[in-house]
Amino acid sequence: MELLEAIRTRRSVRKYKNDLIPEQIIKELLELAAWAPSGMNTQPWLYIVVEGKDYLKTLSDHCKSYILEAMEALPAIQSYRTTLSNPGFDIFYGAPVLVLIFGNKNAFTYPNDCSMAALNLMLTAWERGIGSCWIGFARAYCGTPEFKEELKVPPEYQLVAPVILGYPAEPPGQGSRKEIKVCFHRK
Ligand SMILES: Cc1cc2nc3c(=O)[nH]c(=O)nc-3n(C[C@H](O)[C@H](O)[C@H](O)COP(=O)(O)O)c2cc1C
Repeated sequence: MELLEAIRTRRSVRKYKNDLIPEQIIKELLELAAWAPSGMNTQPWLYIVVEGKDYLKTLSDHCKSYILEAMEALPAIQSYRTTLSNPGFDIFYGAPVLVLIFGNKNAFTYPNDCSMAALNLMLTAWERGIGSCWIGFARAYCGTPEFKEELKVPPEYQLVAPVILGYPAEPPGQGSRKEIKVCFHRK
C-alpha cells in the first residue's frame, strides 16, 4: 500500500477479529513508529504492549469507573456518561493488543514526540492490514501511579497515547473530513 493510500484509507477500527498479532509484527510496527521525528531527537517513548482478552476487559472496566468518578471535572466528555455506564461497553472494542506509549517527561516535547510515534504506528499497522484506534478513555486510569507501578513504568514516564491494534472484523467506513481552513500569507 502506498503511503498516500494508507493516509487516506486508515480509519479508527472498532470491531476486531479474535486473531492475535504475532509478536514479531508488533515489534516491527513499534520499530517503525520510532522513526517518527522528535524534539532534539530525544526519542523519549517507552512502549508497553498489553495483551490478554480477560485482562483487557477488566482494564476497560477500571478505565470506565475511573472516568465516571471524575466526570464532574470533565465537562468535555459528559455526553459519554451513558456509554461509559454501560457494563457491556468495552473501551478497547475487543482488540487483542493495547499499546501504551509513554513519554519521558524530561524530554521537552514528549507529548508531541509520542503522538508522532502513535500516528506512525497507526499508519504502518494499516499498511500491514492491522486496524487501530487511539483510546483516549484509557489515558486517565492507565496513567495513574498505581497502574504504572503494576506495569513497572518508571515515574518519569507519562502516558501519552493508548492505541489498540488488531485485525479488523469488517472493512472500516470511508470517514469524512471538514473542509480545510488554510490561508497563504505570501509577501
Ligand atoms: C486523542 C484521541 C483520542 C481518541 N479517543 C478515542 C476513544 O477513547 N474512543 C474511540 O472510540 N475513539 C477515539 N479516538 C478516535 C477518534 O474518534 C477518531 O480518530 C476520529 O473520529 C476520526 O476518525 P478516523 O480515525 O476513523 O479517521 C481518539 C482519537 C484521538 C486522536
